[in-house]
Amino acid sequence: MNFKEEIIKLKEKLDVTIVAHFYQKDEVFEMGDIVGDSLELAKKAMIAPTKNIIFCGVGFMGESVKVLAPEKRVLMPKVACCAMAKMIDVEYFNENLKILNDAGISSDDILPITYINSSAAVKAAVGKMGGYVCTSSNAFKIIEKGLTSGKKIFFVPDRCLGQNFANQIGLKSAVIGVDSIEDVKNSDIICYNGFCSVHQLFTVEDVEFYKEKYPDIIVAVHPECDVKVVNKADFVGSTSQLIKFITEEISPTQKVVVGTEYNMVNRLRDKNTYVLSSTKPECPTMNETTLEDLYNTLKSIENETYENEIIVDEDVVKYAYMALNRMFEV
Ligand code: 13P
Ligand code: SF4
Repeated sequence: MNFKEEIIKLKEKLDVTIVAHFYQKDEVFEMGDIVGDSLELAKKAMIAPTKNIIFCGVGFMGESVKVLAPEKRVLMPKVACCAMAKMIDVEYFNENLKILNDAGISSDDILPITYINSSAAVKAAVGKMGGYVCTSSNAFKIIEKGLTSGKKIFFVPDRCLGQNFANQIGLKSAVIGVDSIEDVKNSDIICYNGFCSVHQLFTVEDVEFYKEKYPDIIVAVHPECDVKVVNKADFVGSTSQLIKFITEEISPTQKVVVGTEYNMVNRLRDKNTYVLSSTKPECPTMNETTLEDLYNTLKSIENETYENEIIVDEDVVKYAYMALNRMFEV
């Protein structure tokens, strides 16, 4: 079967919007009516004119649309879970909070901020405490806003994002379970010990190798990369910021090595022939979605069986919405 042709036919006749993240395989990405990074997709999908949204991405992204627009039917061709989002659940969140309480930091003095790469349940736990969601494109602003509360920031689940933004603002950060409890007590941004296994593949050795081989090369990385890598990079930006930088802000003949997911980096080669990638870091969960899965999801709308529909508990929707909405307000 030619899945591409069948998908195009089904798309035309059904009340559906296909949403695809930049990290999707090329053939799936091409089918997107809306494409973008996690923030753009959440914003655009919630106001899409159709009842059905098919989200080609990872689980937390589909959940975010459901939280922001509960009246929509959100389906995912594969309910693939981001490895980082899986590193934290509400139980772990509460256990870490207890570690802070036992160290003498009262919950009233803690403002939690969760990276959007977390479950709706974790977002709800954060929302209940008056906290915020952030993405890699607005983390700086959200952390700055959070700091105006005068409280310590408890940043979950990505320790790298927390540490990198703390460094940028010139604040102290520490990671629970890695740094001493004294360091944790003395830091402004306390990070949960989660990370992205894909972005950890970029090493200081990679950066040094490229800088030695091509002295005029630019190193551009996502802030999910390790602090040591980010410190040596020339440009640090979210998915959309990296795209803008490479396609609009540097010359197409400027060599640039990019530290982020491979499908996206590879697509950038259409605009700049000198885009290099040190490894071939495909996000395994983003890559789970195939054209056949997308076809099957469309068929399930046609047959009214609605496979892999995202359902979020009402109470979770209420509090997760608060945390997401606080981000939009900033
Ligand atoms: P963006 O928020 O930049 O889309 O990133 C999502 C992600 O999972 C990065 O690894
Ligand atoms: Fe999650 Fe990392 Fe994949 Fe992004 S690249 S979806 S953070 S596992």
